[in-house]
Amino acid sequence: MKILVLGGAGYIGSHAVYQLIENHMEVVVVDNLETGHRAAVHKDAVFYEGDLRDKAFLRDVFEKEKIDGVLHFAAYSLVGESVQQPMKYFNNNTYGAQVLLEVMNEFNVNYIVFSSTAATYGEPKTIPITEDEPTLPTNPYGESKLMMEKMMKWNSNVTDLNYVALRYFNVAGAREDGVIGEDHSPETHLIPIVIEAALGQRDHVTIFGDDYDTADGTCIRDYIHVEDLINAHLLALDYLIKGGTSDVFNLGSSRGFSVKEIIDTVETVTDIKINRIIGERRAGDPGRLVASADKAKAVLKWNPTRTEINQIITDAWNWHSNNPQGWDDK
Ligand code: UFG
Repeated sequence: MKILVLGGAGYIGSHAVYQLIENHMEVVVVDNLETGHRAAVHKDAVFYEGDLRDKAFLRDVFEKEKIDGVLHFAAYSLVGESVQQPMKYFNNNTYGAQVLLEVMNEFNVNYIVFSSTAATYGEPKTIPITEDEPTLPTNPYGESKLMMEKMMKWNSNVTDLNYVALRYFNVAGAREDGVIGEDHSPETHLIPIVIEAALGQRDHVTIFGDDYDTADGTCIRDYIHVEDLINAHLLALDYLIKGGTSDVFNLGSSRGFSVKEIIDTVETVTDIKINRIIGERRAGDPGRLVASADKAKAVLKWNPTRTEINQIITDAWNWHSNNPQGWDDK
C-alpha cells in the first residue's frame, strides 16, 4: 500500500508517517513547509515540497506515485486567527481540500482519512459530545473543516470515494521515543505553553478565565495522545479498504481536565513550580468540550492506550526538554 500524507511534516502528520512506516506502508509526504518541518519527516518517506492548492503539482505527484489512499492533515488550525482572517482558512482548508478531491477523482484514488475537529460542533448542548450533536461551528476554522466533510459526503454520493472524517479533540503528547514532537510558532496550545513556562522560556502562564461553570472555574478539555490519535487513522484506513462505509468519528479520551488541572499535572511531572496569572476569557472558548469516543471504539475497534494525562504530559515534556528550541530550522 502506498499512502499519501498531506501535511506529513507537521506535528500530527509526522507522527502518522512514523506509524505508517512501522506498519510496512510506503509513504509519500506532501508539505509546503509553511508550518511543517522537513526534519520531522521520516527518512524512509518520499518527500515532495509543494502546496495542495497547486493542482498541476498535485497531479504530478499522483501521476508519479500511484497512490492507494490519502491521509489529509494539511491545514491551518488556529481558531483565533481564523476569526481575524476567514478567507485564509477557506482558501487553504476548504479550497485546498476541493483541489485534493478533484485530483483524487481524476486518478481514481478512493480512500481518504481526513482530520476534522471538535470545532465543527461549536457550543455543544450535550456532554459528552456524540457524532449526532448538531454541527454549528462558532469560528471559520471549524466551518472550513465542516465544509470539507460536506464536500466529501456529496462527492461520495456520485463517485467511488470512501472517506472517514475524524473529529479531533485536544491533541497533545509526542512519540514515546522522543524522536519527533510538537513545534508550533507561535505556540497557542495549553500543554506546550505550560511546558515552555516550566523550561523558563515564559515567565508565566495566563489562564484564560476562571469564571466558567466548572468545578474550579477554568475550561475543561478532552486531551488525547497523538499516538492514540494516529492509531485511529490507521484503523480508519483499514476500515475503508475492507469496505467500510463513509463515516464521521470523534477522537477523544472521554475525560475532561481543567486548565488548572493541566498546570498542576505539568508541575507534578516536571517538579517545577509554574507561575500562573488569571486573565480574561479568550473569545470563542466553550467552557467544556468532552468527546464520546464510543463510536470509534465500537466501529473502528479503536483502543487508546496512552490515556493517562500524566503519560501525555510526560511524553510532551520528554520531547520539549530534549528539544527546547524545537526543530532546528527557524
Ligand atoms: N488556555 C489558557 N491559556 C493559554 C492557552 C490556552 O488558559 O495560554 C486554555 C484555553 O482557553 C482552553 C484550553 O486552555 O480552555 C485549551 O486551549 P488550547 O488552545 O490548547 O486548545 P483549544 O481547546 O482552544 O483548541 C483545540 C485545537 C483546535 C480545535 C479545538 C477543538 O487547538 O484546533 O481544540 O476543541 F479546534
